[in-house]
Amino acid sequence: MENKVYPVPDDWAKNALIDAETYRRKYQQSIEEPDAFWREEAMRIDWIKPFTKVKDTSFDKQDFHIRWFEDGTLNLSANCLDRHLAEHGDRAAIIWEPDDPTQDNRTLTYQELYEETCRFANALKANGVNKGDRVTIYMPMVPEAAITMLACARIGAVHSVIFAGFSPEALGNRIEDCDSDIVITADEGRRGGKTIPLKANVDEALEHHAKVDRVIMLEVTGADVPMKDGRDITWAQAVADQPAECEPEEMNAEDPLFILYTSGSTGKPKGVLHTTGGYAVWTSMTHQYAFDYRPGDVYWCAADIGWITGHSYIVYGPLANGATNVMFEGTPNYPDFSRFWQIVDKYQVSTLYTAPTALRALMREGNEWVEKTSRQSLRVLGSVGEPINPEAWEWYYHVVGNGKCPIADTWWQTETGGHMITPLPGAHALKPGSASMPLFGVKPEIVDTEGKVLEGVAEGALVIADSWPGQMRGVYGDEERFFLTYFSTFKGKYFTSDGCRRDKDGYYWITGRMDDVINVSGHRMGTAEIESALVLHDQVAEAAVVAMPHDVKGQGIYCYVTTVAGAADDEALRKELVKWVRHEIGPIASPDVVQFAPALPKTRSGKIMRRILRKIAENDTSNLGDISTLADPEVVEKLIANRPAV
Ligand code: PRX
Repeated sequence: MENKVYPVPDDWAKNALIDAETYRRKYQQSIEEPDAFWREEAMRIDWIKPFTKVKDTSFDKQDFHIRWFEDGTLNLSANCLDRHLAEHGDRAAIIWEPDDPTQDNRTLTYQELYEETCRFANALKANGVNKGDRVTIYMPMVPEAAITMLACARIGAVHSVIFAGFSPEALGNRIEDCDSDIVITADEGRRGGKTIPLKANVDEALEHHAKVDRVIMLEVTGADVPMKDGRDITWAQAVADQPAECEPEEMNAEDPLFILYTSGSTGKPKGVLHTTGGYAVWTSMTHQYAFDYRPGDVYWCAADIGWITGHSYIVYGPLANGATNVMFEGTPNYPDFSRFWQIVDKYQVSTLYTAPTALRALMREGNEWVEKTSRQSLRVLGSVGEPINPEAWEWYYHVVGNGKCPIADTWWQTETGGHMITPLPGAHALKPGSASMPLFGVKPEIVDTEGKVLEGVAEGALVIADSWPGQMRGVYGDEERFFLTYFSTFKGKYFTSDGCRRDKDGYYWITGRMDDVINVSGHRMGTAEIESALVLHDQVAEAAVVAMPHDVKGQGIYCYVTTVAGAADDEALRKELVKWVRHEIGPIASPDVVQFAPALPKTRSGKIMRRILRKIAENDTSNLGDISTLADPEVVEKLIANRPAV
């Protein structure tokens, strides 16, 4: 597949915002003269007080700091709203498509989005939220989710969005971690014809986190949900009588904008902290260049607002650029497998940005679901969240895009704030499955286990050698963990935890995580997190969780469980454990396989041999490598013999 190359079509080479020559020139400048490059690029943002300093960063332990545009001030909500009003107030900012296509859709113009945001910003203030306070958002995919985020940004409050697929337990832990005393939620969410009991989940979460003294609940389905006196009010009550004007708070470029929890190698999710100025420049720039975005384009990012993709490419990047955003409440397969393509036609979408897992799920249902729609409006396709396998890439390119839409396979992370490696549609020939080339200011390197930089064709660990404006600035509440997690493995460099290969043309191919993170349908899950959940069950003595290959999800969750003496290792307990993990973390963490294990393979010093467990999960037991260091090699045979058929 590596030899397969789709050259940049002539019309793209001629008309794109960034052609091959511009890319080379700008990339070189961004690396050699970052100050000059970013001084100009940052002009895309309206600064209240212009910055004089551009970049002041060091990844070295002695002098570790990351500061961009540090003496500038701005407000990101004003950049996403106010500045568009004079010329484009009546342009659609959000076109909301409901889960159920027979329901009414909603369009909010920039003027309307501005007014709704101001009203809710005033409501937050009236409910005691001050600059710097953390606001937890647990909402479905409705415009009010974006409005809440923008309202926080407007008054300088720090939002922490928790994906609606997380359980009450996970929600409660995240509320507590960032010491938040207000939660914005909805009565219920809708997805794929089902409802999600968001308010009930909040109530359950708050049983153990009583510090929260205000819950504002948007009525979405109108379900009859209990309201706690003195604590809970409805959205309508909160905004009643609030004026549609709210002066934006003047924020320093390095003031916190949001926290977003993500999984890593250790049990506890990290609160990834992003700040204001650099993130604004980065998301706006990458949104414009990666998708060759032009004013008037109808742009649709089908991610959920609960993930970084929703933050950067539904809310901040596109709105800073004045784009018309489609926001979809539902799923690709409801009411049928044609849903995505019908939405494309309905709104004449020109850019679609989605995840490989959705493509694989749709691909296996057959081409007729796609082919019965027109999709003539599509110009650029985007992929995000996990490696896109060449088969899914080819299908996206030929069947969905009719062979005329470049695919931006965007590699990035919650930590990077925005795209890092991606082909630009007018600049780079495409290779199916390769994230291709670094964006401006991004200095990727491939290193070996000792940290030696490998040149030319190489495979190893992907690091980024210097800072970029959208980089995370800290782990909320744990300064040390930030340095330790990302900058201590390879001295002076940001370690992505991804493996990577560079080919003879300098193209980057992401090979997947090198740590204990599983990528399930583009959602990042920590194996340690799932193990911690499992051992909380009173029948479980020990658990080890690894990834297994999965046709649709990319990776599935494979759990080895050793039960306590006297437990019945039967189907009922297996089901119970799946339910248990769903309750502890959420439906997104549902184990695909639970294998009862008489014992786990361990070294003599007691370390679990995950390498062997991964091989068994992958059903690749022909070459288990050296197992002579195991305390009890027979365990491995038993595990292989008892592997459930999957
Ligand atoms: O392993 C990489 C994979 O997703 C991880 C980041 O996950 P998260 O922080 O949840 O952000 C997802 C949305 C950006 C990365 O470490 N990943 C993301 N995009 C790609 C990818 N792997 C290969 N190709 C991609 N385009």
